[in-house]
Amino acid sequence: MQANIVTLPGDYIGPEIIAQAVKVLEKVAEKYGHTFRFDERRLGGASIDAFGVPLTDETLAACNAADAVLMGSVGGPKWDGVEPARRPEKGLLALRKGMQVFANLRPCTIHPQLAGACPLRPDIIAEPIDIMILRELTGDIYFGKRWRSEDRSAATDEMAYSAMEVERLARIGFEMAMKRNKKLCSVDKANVLECSRLWRETVQKLSAEYPEVEVTYMYVDNAAMQLILRPSQFDVMITGNLFGDILSDESAAIAGSLGMMPSASLGSTTRGLYEPIHGSAPDIAGRDIANPLGTILSGALLLRHSLGLEQEAKAIEAAVSAVLDEGYRTGDIWSEGMTKVGCTQMGDLVAARI
Ligand code: IPM
Ligand code: MG
Repeated sequence: MQANIVTLPGDYIGPEIIAQAVKVLEKVAEKYGHTFRFDERRLGGASIDAFGVPLTDETLAACNAADAVLMGSVGGPKWDGVEPARRPEKGLLALRKGMQVFANLRPCTIHPQLAGACPLRPDIIAEPIDIMILRELTGDIYFGKRWRSEDRSAATDEMAYSAMEVERLARIGFEMAMKRNKKLCSVDKANVLECSRLWRETVQKLSAEYPEVEVTYMYVDNAAMQLILRPSQFDVMITGNLFGDILSDESAAIAGSLGMMPSASLGSTTRGLYEPIHGSAPDIAGRDIANPLGTILSGALLLRHSLGLEQEAKAIEAAVSAVLDEGYRTGDIWSEGMTKVGCTQMGDLVAARI
């Protein structure tokens, strides 16, 4: 097949990790007889430096014309002084909104080879952990009205959701649960927030259409606790943008390293935005030591969800697993007795096993 993929390396370690994912995807194309055309564009700080804004209309249009978009990471100290409306992160948020990718899939599984990196007690992770965190991505307090008093001494951020936004996200959650273990946990703060009460009512209504799915409702504070006490109880977890941001970092810590975690953001078409969930890691940028596996695994999700290439997606996942089995580790996941490798070398190792 032929596919057009826009790449957005972004800032700091972004270009290093994207180069590895592109290398692996090119190997997949060669091996399975596909043609992937890569169109590299700027996002975040890189776009501010070149064009004065974190996302240009032209870049957004290119993303919306592509089959899929692969992003590295944005932001960092270089742009900390930039006014809030033009910060690098604004570019990412505008991209998510502009591509209407409202459903962010953040899978959490523990690679058995990295079980030692999980901070939880062995008896807690003895039962298999396979959680799909489904985070709403284009609403909530991220996109509500903001206000700051003239004397700068008071501020407000508005949390807003409509039933339509909740329903379309929850529906994807129910559909996923049907294909997995038929369990769905909806996370909110309905004991305090009106948005959360709307969220819960909407999920409750929709659940009637999925009688086979066992639904539970959890307050976010309890969910944060349950995730570390008994992570194996979760299958699909659906939640709003802010709670999902927080819980997915917690789940990444459970998995052993933020550097390993891929994500997919989807809307109502197959076009998706794929990115590792970690940030731009300014402290290690330019030293070729970043972990590219989260980005490489995001490439696998891209093949699966946007291009329908399941076999090829599995080939990437198996290659990553093989490299870990052979004991290769970047610094963030390294432990005694393992072979430490850099970012480029890790990319080469994975590509060679496709
Ligand atoms: C994430 C990040 C972003 C978010 C930042 C960079 C805006 O933390 O993708 O989880 O909050 O969504
Ligand atoms: Mg985050």
